[in-house]
Amino acid sequence: MSRLKVKNLTQTFVQNGSRLPVLDALNFSVDEGEFVALLGPSGCGKSTLFNIISGILAPDTGEIYLNGEQICGNTGRFAYMQQKDLLLPWRTVLRNVLVGPEIQQEPLDTAKEEAQQRLAQLGLSGFENSYPMQLSGGMRQRVALVRTLLFRKEVLLLDEPFGALDAMTRTVMQSILLDIWTEGRQTVLLITHDVEEALLLADKIYVLTARPATLKTEIPVPLPRPRNVTDTDLIHLKRELLELLQVEMSQVFNTN
Ligand SMILES: Nc1ncnc2c1ncn2[C@@H]1O[C@H](COP(=O)(O)OP(=O)(O)OP(=O)(O)O)[C@@H](O)[C@H]1O
Ligand SMILES: [Mg+2]
Repeated sequence: MSRLKVKNLTQTFVQNGSRLPVLDALNFSVDEGEFVALLGPSGCGKSTLFNIISGILAPDTGEIYLNGEQICGNTGRFAYMQQKDLLLPWRTVLRNVLVGPEIQQEPLDTAKEEAQQRLAQLGLSGFENSYPMQLSGGMRQRVALVRTLLFRKEVLLLDEPFGALDAMTRTVMQSILLDIWTEGRQTVLLITHDVEEALLLADKIYVLTARPATLKTEIPVPLPRPRNVTDTDLIHLKRELLELLQVEMSQVFNTN
């Protein structure tokens, strides 16, 4: 049985009186403990897909299954790191990352200990009592990741978690995310625009078409970890992925 199954999702928005089809009969599944990356052109519907999976948005049609149970429209089943960090400006870093344990009414002493450890792991020691406005964009993103982890769910939905980071911090964060995944064996769904990031991290990559998004293809990445961007097999896969994406990008930017 799949951990997560997305069945026939269709979504159309209305913008300025016109219909905007965003998802078109999208189907895929993710196994328990699997790390899947989602790649697709900007605006194709990736964040919309996560909003639907997490129950924030109701789709026009389609179903979401978690461990075989139909959960479409239910919130609180996934740990979701949204593309915008959505930190609460009036709360300190520590109190921001404790939102999950608070909502889930967990004992705060244990949660605080885990929060301190995670903040240290992500290079945020000493900033526990700072407010989000006192942090850089990359630091805020790391706080948002800690907050997501503290929801302690079996499936993580990460929407461009490292988008605001410089290349070097990004590399460190990728390796920390791999450690976290190896240790916790959660199922991870990662949206990224970075082909190398997808190849370095994922077991499998789902490539989405230009809007309306549907599954274009599935690329397994059967390479041992830790991976290296200079590895020949990885470079071959990168070329294949870039060619697939270029076709979809040309639909968006009319570059044909
Ligand atoms: N609430 C909304 N109402 C109307 N249109 C929306 C809404 N949310 C998203 N859209 C539209 O749906 C399309 C897909 O948006 P979405 O944010 O899902 O794309 P994305 O693939 O995550 O893009 P990016 O890679 O740039 O983050 C866009 O054309 C956007 O304008
Ligand atoms: Mg998005």
